[in-house]
Amino acid sequence: MTRRAVVVGVGHYLPERIVPNSEFEKTLDTSDEWIRSRSGIARRHFAAEGETTSDMGTHAAKNALEDAGLLPADIDAVIVATSTADLTFPSAATMVQAALGMTHGFAFDVQAVCAGFTYALANANALILSGQAERVLVIGAETFSRIMDWTDRSTCVLFGDGAGALVLEAQEGNGTSDDRGILATDLNSDGRYKDLLYVDGGVSTQSTGFLRMQGNQVFRHAVEKLASTAQTALEKAGLSAADIDWIVPHQANIRIIQRTAKKLGLSMDKVVVTVEDHGNTSAASIPLALSVGKERGQIKRGDLVVTEAIGGGLAWGAVVLRW
Ligand code: COA
Repeated sequence: MTRRAVVVGVGHYLPERIVPNSEFEKTLDTSDEWIRSRSGIARRHFAAEGETTSDMGTHAAKNALEDAGLLPADIDAVIVATSTADLTFPSAATMVQAALGMTHGFAFDVQAVCAGFTYALANANALILSGQAERVLVIGAETFSRIMDWTDRSTCVLFGDGAGALVLEAQEGNGTSDDRGILATDLNSDGRYKDLLYVDGGVSTQSTGFLRMQGNQVFRHAVEKLASTAQTALEKAGLSAADIDWIVPHQANIRIIQRTAKKLGLSMDKVVVTVEDHGNTSAASIPLALSVGKERGQIKRGDLVVTEAIGGGLAWGAVVLRW
């Protein structure tokens, strides 16, 4: 028998306020047509004043627990993937833990920007496989609207806020790729590319800063690195792209999503796409897409799902799992 980290619940939360592209036409030299054709984004949600990353993460976590038919008492670890935690410390994860009424277990944040959810899943998998946890809540939650430079049309039209969550549970499998649960993970980073995508502030520079991006450079790295990390993770699982039921990519740009699918030899009807409605929600985008994909009836029990993401760092990774 082989221990596996199996998805037993999924949920998400989107803030109430929906902002269509036309909003930006009022203040910037941009258009709905430009934003849609270059990014595939039509609208995004922005958090209300005072609404924080841990608030949204808690909502998503509650929905995932309900989907799993579990209570906070059943969970022994909480991981939040985020680059926009409420406070410098403590972690957003401990805030979610408290909001769920948990006084047991442990909680921590993972910061790998838009690749954060793949990193968080890999960490949760390691905790489960090593026997340190039986059930882990893995959350991606972000308020990127708080780090936008609203005068920079090349970035502020691309991002949104939201949260998604999975409950992973230790279960026994046969050790084959037919098992449910996480089958392989692949993580990478290369800090030489810092200047392509970063926030120009932080604790030790005593400012909050704004997101800065060389979009066309990031685009070039994205297609190549996403296809290669997905291939590597599939190889580690003893599988190939032909075995994939659903690709659930980081939702940054429809053209990146299309080109990566093409590189993997997959048609777009095997891809869960939410970028039109959510924009780029960084570490929240994959769990949001998993939750919406399940709600739409796309992702079903037993399906082979591959998630892949890239973001600031650069950091990128992929996770192969059977739903
Ligand atoms: N509205 C209108 N024009 C805009 C604009 C906007 N919102 N944003 C940028 N432009 C302009 C630029 O100023 C540039 O004008 P110029 O030629 O006069 O200098 C022109 O559009 C082309 O800019 P460029 O950056 O080359 O466009 P692009 O086709 O690469 O598309 C992105 C820009 C940002 C949509 C695209 O590069 C992208 O999505 N990159 C990946 C970003 C990403 O996903 N990052 C997150 C990864 S986690």
